[in-house]
Amino acid sequence: MEPSPAPAPSPPALAIEVRGLVKRFEDVVAIAGTDFEVPMGQCVGLLGPNGAGKTTTVEILEGLQQPTSGEVRLLGMRWDKDAAELRERIGIALQETRFPDRISVEETVRLFRSFYRRGLSVEEAIALVRLEEKRDAYVMKLSGGQRQRLALAVALAADPELLFLDEPTTGLDPQSRRALWDVIEGLKGKGRTVVLTTHYMEEAQVLCDQVIIMDHGRIVAQGTPAELIASIGGEQVIEFATTPALPAEAFAEVPTLVASRPRGNGHTLSVKELHRALPGLLAITAARGVSLNHLSTHQATLDDVFLAFTGRSLREDAS
Ligand SMILES: Nc1ncnc2c1ncn2[C@@H]1O[C@H](COP(=O)(O)OP(=O)(O)OP(=O)(O)O)[C@@H](O)[C@H]1O
Ligand SMILES: [Mg+2]
Repeated sequence: MEPSPAPAPSPPALAIEVRGLVKRFEDVVAIAGTDFEVPMGQCVGLLGPNGAGKTTTVEILEGLQQPTSGEVRLLGMRWDKDAAELRERIGIALQETRFPDRISVEETVRLFRSFYRRGLSVEEAIALVRLEEKRDAYVMKLSGGQRQRLALAVALAADPELLFLDEPTTGLDPQSRRALWDVIEGLKGKGRTVVLTTHYMEEAQVLCDQVIIMDHGRIVAQGTPAELIASIGGEQVIEFATTPALPAEAFAEVPTLVASRPRGNGHTLSVKELHRALPGLLAITAARGVSLNHLSTHQATLDDVFLAFTGRSLREDAS
């Protein structure tokens, strides 16, 4: 008997589908028509400066805000039809969460856990965010970072298939940030889908399979971190200023130059080969008789991608 042919692989199921999403607040356009998809099991990062539309996007996905127009599907379902089931299957940590002050960490997690039929035990949720020592502490006695970890424990209480984290690590110390990265990596390992917003480029680069860069309510770039960095063409970035200042045209002949942009009082050059570009740059400044200051180089990052697409730096915008 002939072996039966292997079935064709089915396309990956989508955790999120967004089509033509628009959100207006009177005359403010918070989301100006976005389309994107997130396959199951991916971690997707929404990046962008203050006011880009990240929180509005995630709050519409979370069912907390109504879109002005457009369509959103989560796990194949829609908020207008399947709200009760969706609430059981997604977890939410808001950009800012206020819990009652005079109940303990454990009581807070227990309260939120009681809203769901299935989920983690209270102990598991507290252990995941390493708040065991604070189990009996009142919420009002927690530090800012501990409160954020409590918000994450609450979001994880139902062991959600799809988790939304709006700036989960803003204000956390580096150790807590890494601990949270470990939690997110663990969720990815279990096939969960995570949507996070962040101002931290290295966070997106480490955690995210897919990055969506937003600016003024639009998606300006989308892809894996590696694809986005490759898309700007230069692997290396040189930042510098000269005294006196020179126009950008002065650097057009730098070897292997891909792009040059102004940054502050100086310039940012994307180049393919640092070992050829740097001597060229030094020769130009020597020939012009200008002195070079603040010279630094780095491997291209998502911040350079943002700068290339918007002309502005996330680093300068990030608080
Ligand atoms: N309830 C509201 N009423 C009016 N305008 C709003 C409202 N919520 C958000 N906006 C506006 O929509 C735009 C997008 O805001 P949003 O909170 O989505 O930005 P964000 O990308 O999350 O920014 P941040 O990095 O500061 O958190 C901003 O211009 C904001 O002022
Ligand atoms: Mg926000």
